[in-house]
Amino acid sequence: MKILVTGADGQLGSEIRRMAPSLPDEYVFTDVRELDITDPAAVREAVVDGKADVVVNCAAYTNVDAAEDNGELAELLNAKAPGILAGAAREAGALLIHISTDYVFGGEPYNTPCRESRPCTPTGVYGWSKLKGEQAIAASGCKYVILRSAWLYSSFGHNFVKTILRLTEEKPRINVVFDQVGTPTFARDLAGAVATVIADWGAGREDYQHCGIYNYTDEGVCSWFDFAKMIAALSGRTGCEILPCHSDEFPAKVKRPAYSVLDKSKIKETFGISIPYWVDSLKECLSNFKQQI
Ligand SMILES: NC(=O)c1ccc[n+]([C@@H]2O[C@H](COP(=O)([O-])OP(=O)(O)OC[C@H]3O[C@@H](n4cnc5c(N)ncnc54)[C@H](OP(=O)(O)O)[C@@H]3O)[C@@H](O)[C@H]2O)c1
Repeated sequence: MKILVTGADGQLGSEIRRMAPSLPDEYVFTDVRELDITDPAAVREAVVDGKADVVVNCAAYTNVDAAEDNGELAELLNAKAPGILAGAAREAGALLIHISTDYVFGGEPYNTPCRESRPCTPTGVYGWSKLKGEQAIAASGCKYVILRSAWLYSSFGHNFVKTILRLTEEKPRINVVFDQVGTPTFARDLAGAVATVIADWGAGREDYQHCGIYNYTDEGVCSWFDFAKMIAALSGRTGCEILPCHSDEFPAKVKRPAYSVLDKSKIKETFGISIPYWVDSLKECLSNFKQQI
């Protein structure tokens, strides 16, 4: 099969690129220079004329705070462009695999893991724009799998792991919020889930029964404080004191979910995947960092 990946220079796209040589299909990697997902003619040419069997959309506007001031761009990339990709996927008879977020939740004070069916309550422009993107895909009539993920990190791109590695090197003491709880997710694990969905589509695309929205994060639960402590401990950064603090001590443009743990029962049952524990994946990611230094 021919797999078209968009936004391929980001965290997830780079992990798929790293994984692709070990997979059976032909992958075409594009980022905004090769394929701007907001350009309907270019998308049609790449997907329909290019005879893609699967489109994996890793492109998005991902800066949650900046989205509050750049609503138009966030809407274009996260809400409108997924609809453009979905229209082309429908015309090509391709599967669209799209990535969404735990930030579609947050407006209600949940304290149990969110299933896919829970009513969405985004709190900011980013969450709303991603929810609209999901809705545009679902309304398009294309075959699709939407994977809602959270707290992504990898050795590629910008992320919390890199920030903590830098801060614990530079500062004697840092404060990290302990009142936001979720699950850190190694982008490589999410890339593995994408590969599983692609294989599933390849095996049964004639009468495909697995379209829909699925949660995917690594296993387990922690706060950003716990995540920072674990990054420091595993990387031997013992010289910096890490203290817990409340979210309101860090004035932010958008209120983030206090509890956005995702329930992964549906993806495990449907695709038969097993999901690594977040600490094990963090160890693996940090060992990659060491190899790169
Ligand atoms: N990061 C997280 O913690 C997180 C959590 C949950 C869900 N997600 C979702 O997971 C997906 C992947 O996230 P990620 O962290 O891998 O994102 P990322 O690192 O920000 O990568 C996104 C890529 O898309 C590119 N892009 C921007 N505009 C584009 C356009 N018009 N056409 C094509 N490509 C364009 C970006 O290029 P530039 O860098 O040049 O803009 C970047 O290379 C996204 O849908 C995101 O919403 C992320």
